[in-house]
Amino acid sequence: MPKLGVNIDHIATLRQARKEKEPDPVEAAVICELAGADGITVHLREDRRHIQDRDVQLLRQTIKSKLNLEMSIANEIVDIALQVKPDDVCLVPEKRLELTTEGGIDVVSQKEVFESVITKLKNAGIRVSLFVDPDEAQVSAAKVVGADAVELHTGRYAQVFNYRPRDNRLVIEEIERLKKAAKIARSFGLTLNAGHGLDYKNVGPVASILEMNELNIGFSIIARAVLVGLDRAVREMKELVR
Ligand code: PXP
Repeated sequence: MPKLGVNIDHIATLRQARKEKEPDPVEAAVICELAGADGITVHLREDRRHIQDRDVQLLRQTIKSKLNLEMSIANEIVDIALQVKPDDVCLVPEKRLELTTEGGIDVVSQKEVFESVITKLKNAGIRVSLFVDPDEAQVSAAKVVGADAVELHTGRYAQVFNYRPRDNRLVIEEIERLKKAAKIARSFGLTLNAGHGLDYKNVGPVASILEMNELNIGFSIIARAVLVGLDRAVREMKELVR
């Protein structure tokens, strides 16, 4: 049964809309854990558009499940990770103008850079995952550079599922792509995670992929929480993942 990591970035997005103190992602994390979240995920972006340094520090001290820090490989952010020591780090690409992480990272063309960052993080006792497209070359490169895990980017699958619902062939194609990448990851002994764009309707087929360790889900849970409450939104997603 896959674990559910709840990404609480958008609690901070709402707070930063007014630069106020509420809603507080630290309080949200407690509710998520009480509702059954197996982990809390935050993305400390270089532009600090949602999660702030203070959030990461406090979450490290208060989270009782596990803290997964999504981040770029910028030196400043790597230094923060080495100091905070989250349980897991997930390295993601970051572009200033994007609304959300748009694609997986290109490990293949930057093997040395990743190798060096991953070594530093692993030496600090942090497990390292790479957010990659479901692509054989990228998954293989993740193994070569020493990652412990891959998080398969499910964004394209989610787009096809949500916006081309009658085109079943495309949905099946995307699921097959994810399954193939998952098989390669498993054959290398990499821990298998997935995320991006997953919601209450499309999560099932991804949760069913063999040996799926963890799904990281943010936007859909927080969007639902605005209407039904965070506790219920997390419980409903946990049930679907199960
Ligand atoms: N996994 C990674 C690596 C991400 O960058 C994000 C978005 O922050 C997510 C999962 C969660 O995506 P969503 O908010 O669409 O559920």
